[in-house]
Amino acid sequence: MEAPLDDQESLGAGLKPGDAHYRAYVGPPEDYDLIAAMTFNLLTTLGLRQHHSLLDIGCGSLRIGRLLIPYLNRGKYFGVEPNEWLVEQGIKRELGRALLEIKRPTFFFSDSPETIAQAKVPFDFALAQSIFSHCGLDLIKNWLSAMSHAIAENGALVATFLPGEEDSPQRGWVYPEYVKYRPATLRRVAAEASLRFELLDWGHPQQKWAIFAGPKFDSGWFKNRPLTWNSGLRKSSAKTKWEMPLQQRLRLVPTFGTVKAISMMKADCDRSITMNFWMTRRFEKLMREAFARQAMIIDGTGGFMSACGRLPALRASKVIL
Ligand SMILES: C[S@@+](CC[C@H](N)C(=O)[O-])C[C@H]1O[C@@H](n2cnc3c(N)ncnc32)[C@H](O)[C@@H]1O
Repeated sequence: MEAPLDDQESLGAGLKPGDAHYRAYVGPPEDYDLIAAMTFNLLTTLGLRQHHSLLDIGCGSLRIGRLLIPYLNRGKYFGVEPNEWLVEQGIKRELGRALLEIKRPTFFFSDSPETIAQAKVPFDFALAQSIFSHCGLDLIKNWLSAMSHAIAENGALVATFLPGEEDSPQRGWVYPEYVKYRPATLRRVAAEASLRFELLDWGHPQQKWAIFAGPKFDSGWFKNRPLTWNSGLRKSSAKTKWEMPLQQRLRLVPTFGTVKAISMMKADCDRSITMNFWMTRRFEKLMREAFARQAMIIDGTGGFMSACGRLPALRASKVIL
């Protein structure tokens, strides 16, 4: 039996971009999920963490907001959107009111870049997905100028655009039609706003990804290496390791032995392993009866808590080479 009409999910299948349906209005409805996944993965690969503040420019029907709002800590998501009905539909059909209550995002119903000054927090990340592909250069300059005051020095605006041989001459908001720009033009207007324009090697079904970075945003780790989750994680683990205070390091000098649970660690003597407090205590106890003459245990990351339920889990995930 078919579900009653009210219970059916309306995904806007077959509608065109710009049509008056909350999914279709913001782009091809069949890509609604894909755009969300692509963008969330990019932001987290670039280093977005739960404690960061994020501004979603032209957040529409919360296509990406429905992933970002649950992920970020309470009060850390900010959206700007002139079409209030889109946000309302996004809450009703995608996010749910309960999450709104739990996470308390802030929305500015405006098309004015000046509005974001009201947020009064420096943004670690900002997002403009399919926004600059609809902005005249005058409007892009206004957004970049506002962003140069609103993002943290080590923050970045992550944006899409359509590259072209020539710069589109239109002004203001152009929708649902598109505008195109030469990357050199965007680099110039970014520099005028004291932002660093860099192209990103991250796929998009129609557009190109770029960052407009603050002066201290670290993009060096993916300059000559692929922008992947693995290289991002390696970079942040290395940082955690070196940032740890010295007093949290313990040097254990156990004698040779054979405790089954840690036998895999033998191969990694002389290297560092990172573990949380609970694991350090447990490991210390085992090490007293066990092996590994020169293993050094670095305590205090906390970040591996969930993976440390049982000692054997250590084998695969904790060894930092
Ligand atoms: C192509 S949609 C993209 C929506 C959203 N970023 C996403 O990826 O799902 C463009 C959005 O920008 C909003 N918008 C309209 N005028 C704008 C302006 N002047 N500045 C920024 N966004 C604007 C539209 O209402 C619409 O929600």
